[in-house]
Amino acid sequence: MLRNTTTRYGWAAIVLHWLIGLIFIGQFVLGWTMVRMASQRTAFDLIQLHKSFGFLLLGLVLIRIGWRLANLSPELPDEVGPMERRMAPAVHFALYAAQLVVPLSGWVLVSVSVLEIPSVPFNLFVMPHLPLGVSEQAERFWLFGHKWLAYAGIALVALHILAAVRHHFWLRDVVLVRMVSPFFTSRRRKPE
Ligand code: HEM
Ligand code: HEM
Repeated sequence: MLRNTTTRYGWAAIVLHWLIGLIFIGQFVLGWTMVRMASQRTAFDLIQLHKSFGFLLLGLVLIRIGWRLANLSPELPDEVGPMERRMAPAVHFALYAAQLVVPLSGWVLVSVSVLEIPSVPFNLFVMPHLPLGVSEQAERFWLFGHKWLAYAGIALVALHILAAVRHHFWLRDVVLVRMVSPFFTSRRRKPE
């Protein structure tokens, strides 16, 4: 039940999917809000929180990618058309890439920032900065990069959620429910 099979996701993939999904969307909302705060003090505290969850996300994503490479992935149900059969792996690959590059670009941003504020995830330990040149120019570039990678990532997530909703309510197949529990392996189809 922990591992995937050719027809269903196991608990490890399911728990990692929802935990990472929640943190990714939460990080977007937090990132968007914190840079629009009137109070400098609140903005500073929220940015530290954003960095903490960002590093947590990065760790979880590395575990998830390792697990994904060491496991099978369930095949799409037979009724899924040829177009989506080709699209789905490409979108999933892009989502994996987004989960990795958005936190990485955030880490680069804090590493090149002229403010040189240390990152201390959840006040537990000091996360070292990446060995990169600090400059105002690099900071401006990576702020732009981090922001637009996050925006592109969230646009992809929106597409992904629409696809899941379509499977569940329109096509009425097993695709969404099998990401909820390994025990959900089929669905009663709408009477014709
Ligand atoms: C409400 C939010 C979400 C819903 C309803 C949802 C739903 C799903 C479903 C149903 C699948 C299974 C697809 C299949 O069987 O082929 C899936 C897979 C996946 N989801 Fe989500 N998802 C959500 C959020 C996210 C977020 C925020 C991310 C990443 C940032 C994400 C990344 C992925 C990836 C990478 C896979 C492929 C898993 C694999 O086969 O390795 N999802 N999602
Ligand atoms: C290690 C991980 C991360 C670090 C260190 C980090 C760091 C930062 C920092 C320092 C800022 C503030 C920039 C400024 O001073 O204006 C920022 C902004 C932002 N971050 Fe992150 N971040 C990380 C992960 C993420 C993730 C996973 C997302 C979500 C998708 C995200 C979304 C955003 C957004 C939307 C903004 C606001 C951009 C704007 O509208 O100006 N970040 N991030």
